[in-house]
Amino acid sequence: DVIDVKDVLAQGHFTFDPGFMATAACESKITFIDGDKGVLLHRGYPIDQLAEKADYLEVCYLLLHGELPNAEQKDEFDKLVRNHTMLHDQVQRFYNGFRRDAHPMAVMCGVVGALSAFYHDGLDVENPKHREITAIRLVAKIPTIAAWSYKYTIGQPFMYPRNDLSYAENFLYMMFATPADVDYKVNPVLAKAMDRIFTLHADHEQNASTSTVRMAGSTGANPYACIAAGIAALWGPAHGGANEAVLKMLDEIGSVENVAEFMEKVKRKEVKLMGFGHRVYKNFDPRAKVMKQTCDEVLAALGINDPQLALAMELEKIALSDEYFIKRNLYPNVDFYSGIILKAIGIPTAMFTVIFALARTVGWISHWLEMHSAPYKIARPRQLYTGATQRDFVKVDQR
Ligand code: ACO
Repeated sequence: DVIDVKDVLAQGHFTFDPGFMATAACESKITFIDGDKGVLLHRGYPIDQLAEKADYLEVCYLLLHGELPNAEQKDEFDKLVRNHTMLHDQVQRFYNGFRRDAHPMAVMCGVVGALSAFYHDGLDVENPKHREITAIRLVAKIPTIAAWSYKYTIGQPFMYPRNDLSYAENFLYMMFATPADVDYKVNPVLAKAMDRIFTLHADHEQNASTSTVRMAGSTGANPYACIAAGIAALWGPAHGGANEAVLKMLDEIGSVENVAEFMEKVKRKEVKLMGFGHRVYKNFDPRAKVMKQTCDEVLAALGINDPQLALAMELEKIALSDEYFIKRNLYPNVDFYSGIILKAIGIPTAMFTVIFALARTVGWISHWLEMHSAPYKIARPRQLYTGATQRDFVKVDQR
């Protein structure tokens, strides 16, 4: 049931809903989730079909435009994205301002925010053409920004985008090629897995980071600054930082013999089982199912026998049959297996959340576009004040 806020306000009330458990802040036509059934649809299409049959740029087109592209539209869109992969040469200098051991998410926040300095004057967010080119620029440039945030922290020269490669191939090329090895060949199995990981993270309706982008955007702020705000919100371990936290947790547990003891700690609420639980899904996260399948494929193709995967499977098995998890409807989420695949691809742990940010940029900007395509209100939540009642000021020498 939906209660109209105007009725609530007319009665002189407002709702108290910390964490927005039961409050919708907008209407949207982009993504549908049925958390009880474990369903995720983008513009009506099930995520498993998109992950299996579409490539990431097709999904980007779908999220941005509302329909899948035909062959001509797909070709045109791909070309448009390729045309915008380069960063202004001055953007490179922003990287030098960071400590070399900075977390790449800190670099991402800074550099994406800095794009607002390059695209601000003359950018009219009320102009649909300006909004459209903003979306293209962001989707095109974010792999370059992400790969360079890695290259900077390891002290290697930046690799320029290669526009003859697919979106995922180009990203892996910029991550792993060096000037001494420009003939670096991207493994097609890894490129396919990377593309699928991008697709699985492309959008997820009003999560914390997307809501942050909408909230910042509702003030009419520069869109690149809004996306930087989304990146900041994504960073935390309760959201996008969970994929990094899962691998740290697996490292700490160490081996299968320690799983039972770890689970006791979880049940005593001393630690959380990272990669488990979700605000909306009270069933399997449909993305986690595809992720597990991709994980199996990648490890088999690379001939990797990862003990961390065995550990993750043991954790999953125990959790799914344990009363604590059953009672609370806690299932693996998208991040439970993504870290293991990213590790197999050779992505360092600190970059996991960056990959999430890269993939989610299209979701954020689709929501920003949707918000700006119709009348919208500035986001301004109310609060339940619990502080002191009115009192008179007392001078410092009389306190
Ligand atoms: N491990 C152990 N217990 C958990 C976990 C977990 N991962 N998640 C929730 N619980 C327990 C809570 O302690 C709580 O128990 P209680 O009812 O006895 O108090 C109950 O389950 C409900 O949990 P809440 O924290 O109220 O659920 P909420 O919707 O607020 O939080 C969240 C969801 C943040 C995702 C949480 O499940 C969590 O922290 N998970 C681990 C981090 C993680 O994997 N995050 C990624 C989310 S998906 C994404 O952003 C891509």
